[in-house]
Amino acid sequence: MNNLRSVGIASVGAYTPAKRLTNFDLEKMIDTSDEWIRTRTGIKERRIVENGVCTSDMGVIAARMALERAGVSPDEVDLIITGTATPDMFFPSTGCIIQDKLGASKAAAFDLEAGCTGFVYSIAVGAQFVQTGLYKNVLVVGSDTLSKVTDWTDRNTCVLFGDGAGAVLLKPVPEGTGILSLYLGADGSGGELLKIPGGGSKHPANKESVEKKQHYIKMAGNEVFKFATRIMEVAALEAIKRSGLTVEDVSCFIPHQANVRIIEAAAKRLRIPMDKVFVNVSNYGNTSNGSIPIALFEAQEQGRIKKGDAIVIVAFGAGLTWASSVIRW
Ligand code: UT7
Repeated sequence: MNNLRSVGIASVGAYTPAKRLTNFDLEKMIDTSDEWIRTRTGIKERRIVENGVCTSDMGVIAARMALERAGVSPDEVDLIITGTATPDMFFPSTGCIIQDKLGASKAAAFDLEAGCTGFVYSIAVGAQFVQTGLYKNVLVVGSDTLSKVTDWTDRNTCVLFGDGAGAVLLKPVPEGTGILSLYLGADGSGGELLKIPGGGSKHPANKESVEKKQHYIKMAGNEVFKFATRIMEVAALEAIKRSGLTVEDVSCFIPHQANVRIIEAAAKRLRIPMDKVFVNVSNYGNTSNGSIPIALFEAQEQGRIKKGDAIVIVAFGAGLTWASSVIRW
């Protein structure tokens, strides 16, 4: 036996902007239809931030909620990890900006980029600090404003995304509860399938990069779809195997909310009935790093997750990356 502490999710917070963009609104902007979007993705509407609102603004609201629910004050936080693909800026990190806005002056802070998988990767990284005993309160934030990097004239991508944030507080928990397993993976050879090519050191921002729309999401939708359905099954099964449980022991699956058809296909491969799978993609679209914590928050609020339940969180995203975890609530 090792002498690592057990770590679990003490509380969850979430935030989504008030402004709704429905499929009917999109019909007026591009050549699409509510029927196409609903049948191909399951999405009915998504939330979009007001001008001037950025990733840290949403993240800090979700973070505050998570801290309040755990009864932990900002100055008790040891570390803030922010999973995001749309940081406020290159640097300082969005984690540091959130640290300042929260007043979490004793916390270390950094960002973690793993596409839409960043939140689950961040949980895995944060968990290590609690397990080793180095830290007691680790705040993990997932926040993205994909609306800012979406080409609103590209119907192949713009119908899919929305803005949102969530946060969890990781704390020591009694043995046998909390995070029972973790599994992370990556396949960099698939990096071209989902990317924002411009603005980095390879294609620095200039007039040409703007004209070529290199600062927007580029995606090979079909390829990502095939990868996603396969990897959701593989990742969920691996986390379950590592936890020592079986698929039947799991009472609620919380998958990354990208497309209801991806979720249904993965559930079918896993032979899980859809009533054990939490789905809210119809209301928010794909909120990237916000997706899993928002779903966790709503699942808990709706009584879909109760104390003692075994749940699975499983995500995939740009990189390509994937990650999963079994958690005893
Ligand atoms: O976090 C990871 C993020 N990414 C994802 O999860 C995306 C994964 N991929 C998908 O969800 C799906 O591939 C999409 C929803 C993006 C597309 O669904 P699809 O069933 O794979 O459609 P398709 O790309 O094969 O397109 C079918 C047709 C095409 O027309 P033609 O070439 O057959 O005439 C598209 O041009 O649908 C057309 N189309 C649209 N039509 C109306 C594509 N987007 C739209 C649209 N409205 N918004």
